Amino acid sequence: MRGPIVAALAIATLPFVSAQLSWDEAYTKAEAALTNLSLSDKVGIATGIGWQGNGGCVGNTHPVESIGYPSLCLQDGPLGVRYASSITAFTPAVQAASTWDRNLIRERGQFHAEEARALGVHVLLAPVAGALGKIAEGGRNWEGWSPDPYLTGVAVAETIEAMQAVGVQATIKHYIANEQELRRETMSSNVDDKTMHEIYLAPFYDAVKSGVAATMCSYNKLDGTWACENDHVMNELLKGQLGYQGYIMTDWGAQHSNAPAANAGLDMSMPGSNYNGGDVYWGNGGLEGAVQSGDVAEERVNDMAKRILAAWYKMGQDGEYPPLNLDLNVQGDHGANVRACARDGIVLLRNEDNILPLASPSSIAVIGSAAVKGDHANNVCVDKGCNDGALGMGWGSGSVEYSSFSEPYAAIEEKAPGAVTLSDSDDASKGAAAASGKDVALVFITADSGEGYITVEGNAGDRNNLDPWHNGNELVKAVAKVNENVIVVVHSVGAIIMDEILALPSVKAVVWAGLPSQESGNALVDVLWGETNPNGKLVYTIAKQASHYNTQVVSGDDDYEEGVMIDYRHFDSAGIEPEFEFGFGLSYTTFDYADLEVQSSATSGPIAGDIVSGGPADFFDEVATVTASVTNSGAVAGAEVAQLYLSYPESAAGQPPKQLRGFAKLPLEAGASGPVSFSIRKRDVAVWDVEGQQWTVPAGEFGVLVGASSRDIRLEGTIQVA
Ligand code: NOJ
Repeated sequence: MRGPIVAALAIATLPFVSAQLSWDEAYTKAEAALTNLSLSDKVGIATGIGWQGNGGCVGNTHPVESIGYPSLCLQDGPLGVRYASSITAFTPAVQAASTWDRNLIRERGQFHAEEARALGVHVLLAPVAGALGKIAEGGRNWEGWSPDPYLTGVAVAETIEAMQAVGVQATIKHYIANEQELRRETMSSNVDDKTMHEIYLAPFYDAVKSGVAATMCSYNKLDGTWACENDHVMNELLKGQLGYQGYIMTDWGAQHSNAPAANAGLDMSMPGSNYNGGDVYWGNGGLEGAVQSGDVAEERVNDMAKRILAAWYKMGQDGEYPPLNLDLNVQGDHGANVRACARDGIVLLRNEDNILPLASPSSIAVIGSAAVKGDHANNVCVDKGCNDGALGMGWGSGSVEYSSFSEPYAAIEEKAPGAVTLSDSDDASKGAAAASGKDVALVFITADSGEGYITVEGNAGDRNNLDPWHNGNELVKAVAKVNENVIVVVHSVGAIIMDEILALPSVKAVVWAGLPSQESGNALVDVLWGETNPNGKLVYTIAKQASHYNTQVVSGDDDYEEGVMIDYRHFDSAGIEPEFEFGFGLSYTTFDYADLEVQSSATSGPIAGDIVSGGPADFFDEVATVTASVTNSGAVAGAEVAQLYLSYPESAAGQPPKQLRGFAKLPLEAGASGPVSFSIRKRDVAVWDVEGQQWTVPAGEFGVLVGASSRDIRLEGTIQVA
């Protein structure tokens, strides 16, 4: 008997607690406060007091008692509150993205910020939009969402709005083109202007439009100039073209000068001490001295303080704010969001003979060290710097301590008591012995990565290769020799090469379980037994061979020669067949698409509106709508992620063959139909005009492609732009 299957969309409406001020209102308050401040007060607002200088926050600023301004607590990170003792370990962003569920992503941000606020954290160092993930091996990709800038843009906007509605300042990081760990603090990312705007800057427009309070400039250089003293990226792009009104803080120790950084647009020095042996530039009278010597205008320091104070007023943090206490239990029922993201982010990649959902097998072998809790799940390694046992997140400053962890083996044993034989090692012969004679064999394999200050099994942040760790290929092969019903469960930070595994006829199913954080086992069981019909889709391309990717970790500077052709844009333009394409994911049911309708009022020409928060005022205006209907044509309920891609007119040379410009997730009972609709904004049909230094909508025919993945297009239409 198969278990009941229910569609997976969980959360509808969310309560928000704080009415934010507009930037204008916040600036007015900040300007009034400024008139009472000394130069040293203002420098203090802009300068950190040191790593964990004030009770466990990774960054803190100087208080100004005369205006009731506290020492701000800035805290990591992107999936939970770091250095806190009883918090929720939310799923990594990449897993939340794989749900393609705006409501879950928004709720995740809200719950995360509610925990931060309750603990007294003012500024969360999240979300991540760079690394975007152009390099499959990139160590910190899992802290972000997807190498597709549209999907990342939607996700950071939902997250920022949800966090700030709770009254916590969000920080978009790392700005910008911080795509690898190797030599991250010395290398230069040399990105051409078109690629910068259309790919790497794109999600930052969304973040600024959402009113993001803070931006963290990155460790790397851009065209030879440090990101945190780069006039072009900070003053011209972010504060100029994007109309950003918040403040820019350094990544930790990413400041390299005093006056040049200030004049290039840097607003806050973090952590402000000589962290990692780095120099102190603004503290100890440094910035005051630069003002006195005339190297930095006092007006610039006023602007720093104004931006930082305004963010604080905008969130209403000048009202009652909880005192810092990282030891409170703030988890509430937030684990439900983790379970939903972990579960709905699972992508079913293969399901031959409909082996899944499991039909009450009487004997199950559970194989691999990753099936059981080890040092990772037990918080043994500092900042999750080990891949021992079940894997729920990568390592580094973006990790947190688990307050609980649902072990895969335990969850399976609970679901099928008495049926399970465990081999909790990666030894191939032990695995084969356990699998022999069993109805099904579940083999757990992993791949891990993280931040470069920790090296795990020889991987210094970035992955050394795209193979499964711990001899995963050999383990699967040995099991597949003795058992014809092998289900491979992959817990991974990103793509792995699976050709050897997929070549085995006994491998009937591949379950891409990603990074499920604390709800690993529960989420997996939900899908294996069909309590939930799998409904996640890949947020990156899985290639057949590592050499099919056109980007690698580089040992010198990175000239970004691939331009806009990253991930699926590259596979499409180079005509390379991926193993599993961007947007792909199977279901226990099938979906049919029909009734494409396109309505457009788009016209060609430059986007010339005045600059507001998020770029030209008309940048986000809707210019077309696309609707279609989706039918669940199978026998069980499920949810489909319908995707809209646009191809650009020939007049727009150098565009990728198709680009994601919309998605909609629709739960449907068996036999039911429902509408999906996509709103296309001016920016979605625009290209960056390098010569004219503006966004412009090209004339000609756009292709409208609606389908189940980037390579499973079901409906096609056009938009004519005159
Ligand atoms: C460096 C990391 O790059 C950044 O993401 C983090 O927020 C800071 N360290 C503080 O831990």
